[in-house]
Amino acid sequence: MQNVINFITNSRVWKSFFRHGWPDNPLDRSLVMTTNVFFHLHPVKVNRKSLNWAYSLGLGVISAIAFLELTLTGILLMFYYVPTLERAYGYIITLQTEVPFGQLLRNMHRWGAHLMVLVVVLHMVRVFYTGAYKPPRQFNWVVGVVLLLLTLGASFTGYLLPWDQLAFWAITVGTSVAGYAPVIGNSAKAILLGGPEVGQEALTRFYALHIMIIPAGIALLTSLHMWRVRKDGGLAANEIKD
Ligand code: HEM
Repeated sequence: MQNVINFITNSRVWKSFFRHGWPDNPLDRSLVMTTNVFFHLHPVKVNRKSLNWAYSLGLGVISAIAFLELTLTGILLMFYYVPTLERAYGYIITLQTEVPFGQLLRNMHRWGAHLMVLVVVLHMVRVFYTGAYKPPRQFNWVVGVVLLLLTLGASFTGYLLPWDQLAFWAITVGTSVAGYAPVIGNSAKAILLGGPEVGQEALTRFYALHIMIIPAGIALLTSLHMWRVRKDGGLAANEIKD
């Protein structure tokens, strides 16, 4: 048995994955952290204060987990959904009545979306309450504001996709409100709808925004956001005097 283990751990394939020895000394321990794509997101050293759960309430991390859950359930929903006026609503009915676990899948996506909006807002309130928007974190605050807008945008564009009465009228009202915005109102409404009223063009645009453009934006900016937390010296809790 030991021979087999030695053979595997000495092979080139194994060494190409694990580029360090067993982590029983300080060098190999730090190599484990820095050479692993998931572990390297963590700093090598963490300040004790930023580990205090009651400080951040984990709201940023919960926002990221909600986004991952939505991405996963959203990909599964895409296996069935067709963004056309004739088929979109029928798809929702089929999903809920015929597809195994379809109702659960739809509810996980819908409730996950509500949760993400709520948690992102609470995270923003926490950051404000602890004064973490102040220098040097002011840029990350701005990144956060864009993340909030993208989260709301994902929620808004997803709302139209079931193509039921609620969706149709909510988006009719929502895009009319957008039309009243000063200067950019009319153009924003025209870009969103792609026509004079909510119809196939709007459904196609909302679908593209919902499944590609907005999630890509959130994924990209969340990576930048986390990287900035590291570069700004970890959580603002670290600067609190004992
Ligand atoms: C998709 C939305 C978001 C995700 C996934 C996210 C994720 C995170 C994570 C994981 C952290 C570090 C841990 C924590 O504080 O819980 C963090 C910190 C931070 N976030 Fe967010 N965030 C989001 C939205 C926002 C918003 C809307 C704002 C404000 C407008 C914001 C501003 C900040 C700031 C300034 C920090 C540093 C906090 C400190 O140093 O104490 N974030 N974020």
